Amino acid sequence: MTSKVDMEKLVSLCKRRGFIFPSSEIYGGLSACWDYGPLGIELKRNIRDAWWRSMVQERDDMVGLDSSIMMHPQTWVASGHVEGFKDPLVECKACHQRWRADEARDGRCPACGGELTQPRMFNLMFKTLFGPVEEEAQVVYLRPETAQGIFVNFANIVDAARKKLPFGIAQIGKAFRNEITAGNFIFRSREFEMMEVEFFVKPGTDEEWLKYWRDARLNWYVNLGIKRENLRLRQHAKDELAHYARACYDVEYLFPMGWSELEGIANRGDFDLTQHSKSSGKDLSYFDPDSGERYIPYVIEPSAGVDRSALAFLVDAYDEEPDKEGLRVLLRLHPDLAPIKVAVLPLSRNETLLPMAREVYADLRKCFMSQYDDAQSIGRRYRRQDEIGTPFCVTIDFQSLEDKQATIRERDSMKQIRVPMAELKNSLAAKLAGEPLEVLPPGGSYWLGFEG
Ligand code: GAP
Repeated sequence: MTSKVDMEKLVSLCKRRGFIFPSSEIYGGLSACWDYGPLGIELKRNIRDAWWRSMVQERDDMVGLDSSIMMHPQTWVASGHVEGFKDPLVECKACHQRWRADEARDGRCPACGGELTQPRMFNLMFKTLFGPVEEEAQVVYLRPETAQGIFVNFANIVDAARKKLPFGIAQIGKAFRNEITAGNFIFRSREFEMMEVEFFVKPGTDEEWLKYWRDARLNWYVNLGIKRENLRLRQHAKDELAHYARACYDVEYLFPMGWSELEGIANRGDFDLTQHSKSSGKDLSYFDPDSGERYIPYVIEPSAGVDRSALAFLVDAYDEEPDKEGLRVLLRLHPDLAPIKVAVLPLSRNETLLPMAREVYADLRKCFMSQYDDAQSIGRRYRRQDEIGTPFCVTIDFQSLEDKQATIRERDSMKQIRVPMAELKNSLAAKLAGEPLEVLPPGGSYWLGFEG
């Protein structure tokens, strides 16, 4: 393990600081379901926004979609999920714990070493009843991936958005899987959020696009601060490909429990559109105005998990370093992902400082997700912000009352600069966008004041 944090420590920080709580905890929790607290929702929102910006907003060849979670049941027959979305389940004859067969490699129960039953196939889709009268109700599934909502809307979007191949449809939303063994915190849960693109291409160009998306997706994580050495690409062997895939790469991350899948980039060929064409009777082929041909497009699918990305970003950002009080714990989160961008801290609760501090806070929060904190010593407050990954603290001190300047303190280096109030907003915006702290706004100066 190269990261400085094990899962236990991270789970504890996430709970203590309001990132993530066990679901329904007062009732003893619901296995593999998690609730995101005040900081967790900001982190997730920032991950979604960063993904949407790079996948949709900054591209000409992508449009968005938000399809419903419950879909016509035939969707899942056509997609192969009713028949094929199954894991082999074994049960321990001694302690009755259930496992995916591949988790009990030596044929014994991983918990107690007991003898296991023969594997039986277990479908991972959750079922529910649709309609008000139970007897007449139809079984529908909670979607196990957002992808199918995209495929069934392919023709709608080609017509409405007037897109020419190659182009993609992006969707972010909840998915549900009745995982046999879930675990490792939010790595594998039964309810989670996906960020998926189905990128439609002309057959024959698919291998090239697969490589393009494989590299683009790995770089997305690097650009948001994940250390390159903690990421790797792994190509699926033929016998591990999903039922719809012709080829697939995983972006893997070195999680505390070892290298594991962070995102999959699959070449789904024409499997899904062909299946839905056959099953619905609707022609889902595409007329290519450039070549005059009609064909079923191939699909490249980068499919990522919001929760799993959040876990990777948290693990990678976690750091500890010795300081005079023992240990400084910090999350070196990329500013785009940090839940709180700026914390406003009056040097003390002295009442002459508070009006100015509150005024600065009221002003900054219009632009940035901000926090105000005047409880306990300034050193403690800096540490509290470090631990939740706040990139910048703004301190108002007695000198601020006279010279109308504030201190900006940077999380990672703990260096400080002094900035005129009138420049504060612009300066913070520039630094959050990557400008080095050393670049001073007009009237600014380096500051060797209160220790960080
Ligand atoms: N449409 C393709 C698809 O569903 P997948 O590899 O099964 O592919 C894609 O899932 C991504 O969704 C994974 O790489 C992971 O990030 C996330 N994911 C899948 N199952 C998950 C679970 N039970 N809990 C959390 N995230 C999950």
